[in-house]
Amino acid sequence: MEKQKVHYSDLGLSNTKEMFSKAMAGKYAIPAYNFNNLEQLQAIVTACIETNSPVIIQVSKGARSYANETMLRCMAMGAVQMAREAGSDIPICLHLDHGDTFELCKSCVDSGFSSVMIDGSHLPFEENMALAKKVVEYAHQFGVSVEAELGVLAGIEDEISAEHSTYTKPEEVEEFVKKTGVDSLAISIGTSHGAFKFKAGQPVPPLRFDILEECEKRIPGFPIVLHGASSVVQEYVELINQYGGNLAGAVGIPEDQLRRAAASSVCKINIDSDGRLAVTAKIREYFAKDPKEFDPRKYLGEARKELVKLVKHKNETVLGSAGKA
Ligand code: G3H
Ligand code: 13P
Ligand code: ZN
Repeated sequence: MEKQKVHYSDLGLSNTKEMFSKAMAGKYAIPAYNFNNLEQLQAIVTACIETNSPVIIQVSKGARSYANETMLRCMAMGAVQMAREAGSDIPICLHLDHGDTFELCKSCVDSGFSSVMIDGSHLPFEENMALAKKVVEYAHQFGVSVEAELGVLAGIEDEISAEHSTYTKPEEVEEFVKKTGVDSLAISIGTSHGAFKFKAGQPVPPLRFDILEECEKRIPGFPIVLHGASSVVQEYVELINQYGGNLAGAVGIPEDQLRRAAASSVCKINIDSDGRLAVTAKIREYFAKDPKEFDPRKYLGEARKELVKLVKHKNETVLGSAGKA
């Protein structure tokens, strides 16, 4: 059987256009949470319904091969349906996170995603621009939003320092945005992916708000995206370590810095690691306290409950998106 072509509007999903223009005007950011399975998606959507927050649910290439693109899209459709049946009209966007080829982005556009990221940040400037433009030309025919990236986020082992600078060059953003026609741009100002963002025991270097401000000046009113924005909640790190894990030295971006970013042109903030930590902490705790339990609904249920708490906290006190749907 051939893969079915679906348009996102038939699934009740939204693109990012209106979400971002409201977030820009209201000085908050739209939360973008990664999901790979049912419990994560249920928790994200439940928390966003309860806080009346718009939301971007995002799927990485890895999530797509773990859970299957069609399965994830159908789950997103179920999430929209669940929200509507609960009487909520929060906008929900289904986004491809870190798409690395035109073909992958096309496949997601064709299968019902309402937004895609083409991540050409490792390519030379001209190649990154050409690839992003190609994705925009395809995606915009269907009203699908496109995010691209300029500057490379430090890897989980890289030290964020001037010598290893991979920060976005503000002088490049205007040409990139104009020539590609992208809807949003991820920039590198000191965040990084994963749970080990900075060297343990050393002071956390502040985000480079000066670079963000320079970018804002060159592309005023244009939506900026922050990846690698987990704060690596220490309560979860401690629980994981207490119950047999080993995440010594895990550290993230302080919440006050994310709040400050959310009030700027940053319209989308990506959070994955914090959700993973919440789930792992609760499952480890559950098994340690009740080694006889083997019904996944019990320990996954506890993990899901914690994830609801985490997402509500992020929406209410970090992103500022609560009450904005
Ligand atoms: O930016 C990466 C996201 O956290 C997704 O991670 O590729 O392991 O699914 P993943
Ligand atoms: P974290 O690893 O900080 O959660 O970042 C997630 C992300 O950027 C997904 O694209
Ligand atoms: Zn990312």
